[in-house]
Amino acid sequence: MTNNTELTGRPVISSTGLFTPSETITNEELVDSFNRYVELFNTENAEAIAAGEVEALQPSSVEFIEKASGIKARHVMAKEPILNPEIMVPRWDERSDDQLSMMAEIGVIAARQALERAGRDVADVDAVLCAASNMERPYPAMAIEIQQELGIDGFGFDMNVACSSATFGIQTAADYIRSGNAKSVLVVSPEITSGHLNWRDRDSHFIFGDVATAVLVEDAAVAPAEHWDILGTKLKTVFSNNIRNNFGFLNRASPEGEGKKDKLFVQEGRKVFKEVVPMVAEMIVTEAEKLGIDPQGLRRLWLHQANAGMNRLIAQRVLGHEANPDESPTVLDTYANTSSAGSIIAFHQHSEDLVGGDTGLICSFGAGYSAGAVFVRKVA
Ligand code: COA
Repeated sequence: MTNNTELTGRPVISSTGLFTPSETITNEELVDSFNRYVELFNTENAEAIAAGEVEALQPSSVEFIEKASGIKARHVMAKEPILNPEIMVPRWDERSDDQLSMMAEIGVIAARQALERAGRDVADVDAVLCAASNMERPYPAMAIEIQQELGIDGFGFDMNVACSSATFGIQTAADYIRSGNAKSVLVVSPEITSGHLNWRDRDSHFIFGDVATAVLVEDAAVAPAEHWDILGTKLKTVFSNNIRNNFGFLNRASPEGEGKKDKLFVQEGRKVFKEVVPMVAEMIVTEAEKLGIDPQGLRRLWLHQANAGMNRLIAQRVLGHEANPDESPTVLDTYANTSSAGSIIAFHQHSEDLVGGDTGLICSFGAGYSAGAVFVRKVA
């Protein structure tokens, strides 16, 4: 790329990258560990339970998890302590300030893959956005650490819009391209969700998994010949307490502390399901119409991966018929909910077979509530 390349102000997705932790936990392993914890708890508290002072814990079940969510397994950064019924939190050695942080490390792996797939020289990248829902620290920004590790001359910052962080990042990057403030922007989403998940909570212990994704958003003028035109983006937020995490700088609660469940991830799953499905489906259909796209003609939906039933309903409302796996691919079964990275993993793994002219939608939704839609068309 030369300095005198005439920029178009038209944003495209040039490539994506994915880092998948090598360790996995199957539902069977997870439930076995959880149920051993339940047994330990109920034995230790037998007297109080018998006296009606403490409520006995109920066991979890593989069948329930798969039926209610579609999840069969998840990748994690630290399997052994999570499965130890005496620990049940991810543990790793604290890194010194001179070492690359964990989020930056996995973000860099995904970013390098995206750069390589686009044949992009880091010298031509202007910015790094670290868009994720679970942050390792407040500052210095992980984005700047990733920028430094990759050797990018430009700027970077972290942004958190929970499960919609990646799509909000894509629109932010696209706006930099549209305004001419950048020609090449990396949106990196390292999601170490296992740190904020309450592995002792039967209602949600099966939900999340760890991963990192990267999306290279560029001006069409500098993009590789094969890329995805960004036809339009739409973001929406509506305040809700139904998915919440109160961990923050004003509290120093131990994640293992009794009675401090709200310092970890909590949700009203049923309400989320009911309220988010119509909100997202309506947003997609309205925005598609505004862009002159027939929603029923969308070739593929890369939806947020939180619950298979939610995706079935949203896809049905958008496409006007029950979507098959080719129209709405699932990665939830092996990755679980990877927060903002889910729809990007689906896009990364299930987009190469599409042909020039095919139009699709990357869409995320989650806490906030927040929802983000990115309409793309393949150029090949
Ligand atoms: N094993 C066995 N049974 C369980 C269980 C477990 N791990 N967890 C809950 N149950 C039981 C409940 O106690 C309840 O029993 P009851 O009917 O006797 O009261 C029953 O199963 C149904 O529980 P519920 O929580 O209502 O299940 P659900 O069908 O709503 O499924 C979710 C739970 C979380 C999978 C589902 O609500 C969901 O995915 N919602 C969307 C969440 C979402 O998108 N969040 C965004 C996060 S970023």
